[in-house]
Amino acid sequence: MQHVFVTGASGFLVDRLLADGITVTGWDNLSTGQIRFLDGALQHPKFKLVRGDNLDLPALTAAMKGVDFVFHLAANADIKDGWQHPRKDLEQNTIATFNVLEAMRANGVKRIGFSSTGSVYGEALVTPERPTPETDTFPIQTSLYGASKSAGEGLLAAYAEGNQIDEAYIFRFVSILGERYTHGHVFDFYKQLVEHPDRLRVLGDGSQRKSYLYVQDCVEALLHVTRNHTARDAKHHTQIYNLGTPEYVQVKDSIAAICEALNLSPKLEFTGGDRGWIGDNPFIYLDTKRIQSTGWKPKLTIRQGIIKTLRWLEANRWVYEARR
Ligand SMILES: NC(=O)c1ccc[n+]([C@@H]2O[C@H](COP(=O)([O-])OP(=O)(O)OC[C@H]3O[C@@H](n4cnc5c(N)ncnc54)[C@H](O)[C@@H]3O)[C@@H](O)[C@H]2O)c1
Repeated sequence: MQHVFVTGASGFLVDRLLADGITVTGWDNLSTGQIRFLDGALQHPKFKLVRGDNLDLPALTAAMKGVDFVFHLAANADIKDGWQHPRKDLEQNTIATFNVLEAMRANGVKRIGFSSTGSVYGEALVTPERPTPETDTFPIQTSLYGASKSAGEGLLAAYAEGNQIDEAYIFRFVSILGERYTHGHVFDFYKQLVEHPDRLRVLGDGSQRKSYLYVQDCVEALLHVTRNHTARDAKHHTQIYNLGTPEYVQVKDSIAAICEALNLSPKLEFTGGDRGWIGDNPFIYLDTKRIQSTGWKPKLTIRQGIIKTLRWLEANRWVYEARR
């Protein structure tokens, strides 16, 4: 890995690659990405930011010239509002992924890491009490987001099978926590508690069980396996890894940790039902034995990740204004 192209470049992966001495071209339309997160990278001589959109294939192809690895992270990562704009997931997560693969093909780039999601498992119906392994059958898709990412995964595998790429890494993340956090349940809860510390509206009945991963553990995992070329020798040149912690928490537990850390006792107002929105999976718990067998393991527990996120949000309230 000498020159890496990162779509969705306003995160820690760019910083980490630069710290490792790698040349990075960042590609981002800054639709949700915050330019402030790139303050450090933009000072670095080995970094170049190209502002562009994944739906613009000619520009994407031109920007990718000379790279030897692509991390494709850019997406519409907002699962909850899928039905407000049904075309968005298809365009941003499936067609955009097709464009990235076509730009790679035009430039002869043979290796890619793709941020997929645990949402592709829909609701794991087979034996729901155990963590979901990568080999699970896909039940019915429950969200446009999961369906569009699943299609993106299919494209990567087909390009690998068709000898258009040599190494395809598919990472199915649980929800990510940590610094530079701009969306998700800790964001929503903290924002509410800043505005009205005495009450908290919670989607669903709070019994949903979810797993989370600290962002730096996630970045470490992406680099750990892609550097070891595990997909090169894999059947069909495609390797799929669940990324998460070997634990989960109930939404209610997460609220308790947040309120304790903020020293608040708000009245909880549950919207009711066993899930937060249409397509919400009430139990996300991924089996991470496969990635752990490569030697990676997360450094932070979910609770530690929640507290780190909260402290970062407290120190960076500008993020609320930026996300309005
Ligand atoms: N955050 C999570 O909890 C989580 C969980 C599972 C999977 N993922 C996946 O991880 C990746 C990153 O998620 P995130 O939470 O950091 O999302 P995000 O919205 O914070 O970041 C996405 C980045 O991509 C850029 N972008 C979006 N559309 C683009 C386009 N058409 N062209 C160019 N750039 C574009 C945005 O400006 C932003 O910088 C996504 O692929 C997401 O699906 C995230």
